[in-house]
Amino acid sequence: MTAKLVYEGKEYDLPVIEGSEQERAIDIRNLRRDTGLITYDPGYGNSGSCESSITFIDGEKGILRYRGYPIEEVAEHARFTEVCYMLIYGERPELAELQRFRQLMTMHTLIHEDMKKFYEGYPPGAHPMAIMAAMVASLSSFYPDHDDELDLNIVRILAKSKTLAAFAYKKSVGQPFIYPRNDLSWPANFMRMMFAVPADEYDVPKVYEDAMNLLLILHADHEQNCSTSTMRMVGSSGANLFASISAAICALWGPLHGGANQAVIEMLQQISDQGGDYRDFLDKVKRGDAGVRLMGFGHRVYKNFDPRAKLLKTAADRIFDQLGINDPLLELAKKIEEAALSEEYFVQRKLYPNVDFYSGIIYRAMGIPTEMFTVMFALGRLPGWIAHWMEQQRDKTSRIHRPRQVYTGSQKRVFEDRGTKKL
Ligand code: ACO
Repeated sequence: MTAKLVYEGKEYDLPVIEGSEQERAIDIRNLRRDTGLITYDPGYGNSGSCESSITFIDGEKGILRYRGYPIEEVAEHARFTEVCYMLIYGERPELAELQRFRQLMTMHTLIHEDMKKFYEGYPPGAHPMAIMAAMVASLSSFYPDHDDELDLNIVRILAKSKTLAAFAYKKSVGQPFIYPRNDLSWPANFMRMMFAVPADEYDVPKVYEDAMNLLLILHADHEQNCSTSTMRMVGSSGANLFASISAAICALWGPLHGGANQAVIEMLQQISDQGGDYRDFLDKVKRGDAGVRLMGFGHRVYKNFDPRAKLLKTAADRIFDQLGINDPLLELAKKIEEAALSEEYFVQRKLYPNVDFYSGIIYRAMGIPTEMFTVMFALGRLPGWIAHWMEQQRDKTSRIHRPRQVYTGSQKRVFEDRGTKKL
């Protein structure tokens, strides 16, 4: 299969490659060499940056699969630890492998005592994402990035990240750190480190543990999104695993990406505080008033529905039922979704709720403070970032990521000597 490019009277045959789900791409690797042209694709909406066998998304049909398994089935039958293994190593683990992996993930939860000192330097209001990015990069100064340490470093980052995150929260509320307890599951261990205080044990309710497990699984990978592409961009230079993850955490922080879960709750709270008139808010969004967007809506890839949002909406109802609580923000979110989905503005642009629309409401019900929401996303996305970093390191065709540009600045001009060098 080839595609034809006609440029300045000459014809060029460009190979077309096909993926395992019949997705096709024009291979332009030799385009510049053969034609002198580059492609122009701001935001990379039409560019494939790699071949990958980790996650498949069909945005038109609302399909998401990890290693070929539909997200709905993975969410129903798996625990987060198994999903981590499957994403990173390519296949579901045998029972004995899974047990060993789980054991390693609990054995490595402690962080070096010296790292606790880092927390002391932060001001009380420091955003936990800032702390997370710095702490994860700092892990590289404690653990070498030799090849024979790689599997151990993967386990270390998966295990220690929740301790780092919980300590960031404890720092923000001025409470003493709670150390991990290795008999607990990943979600229960994390929630205990967040909410227990030294004199008082905290039993993590099963409903919270299950909800957290679901949230972590639904966030675990999403192919070449902004933070994963950042992970690959940084990894392409040969930077170590911890440094690459730290960069991915920073990319996730923005409100157009993982920071949207915090922004959704702030938006809902603001609408509620101003009397709950969501129709007036939707009118502002449609008019584009000062760039007001309906946070938690829209996606670069999903143009029909986001299967993760669907699962979370059902989960939110179930969790609220089990907890016997009634959050007015959940009711408001549902009304907004219903109203938006019948408005031409949103229908025409194919804007549907994304994963962040309902996740924040569930975190809130679990008592997780708003500023921690994006940290929760980062904890869930870790296995995906690692899987992509590994895939890239093993790909012999991978080169340093270095896009080109179309230069629009001044043409050559003289830099006259005005004597400023002596000042
Ligand atoms: N509210 C209102 N209008 C929107 C929204 C929104 N949430 N999202 C997109 N639009 C509009 C744009 O204004 C644009 O309209 P126009 O054609 O009249 O100019 C059109 O829809 C296309 O939008 P783009 O910004 O070009 O879409 P893109 O694919 O670049 O952006 C994004 C996707 C960033 C997710 C966007 O939909 C958005 O900002 N959503 C809100 C933030 C959010 O929820 N982010 C989380 C995404 S999921 C994740 O990262 C986990």
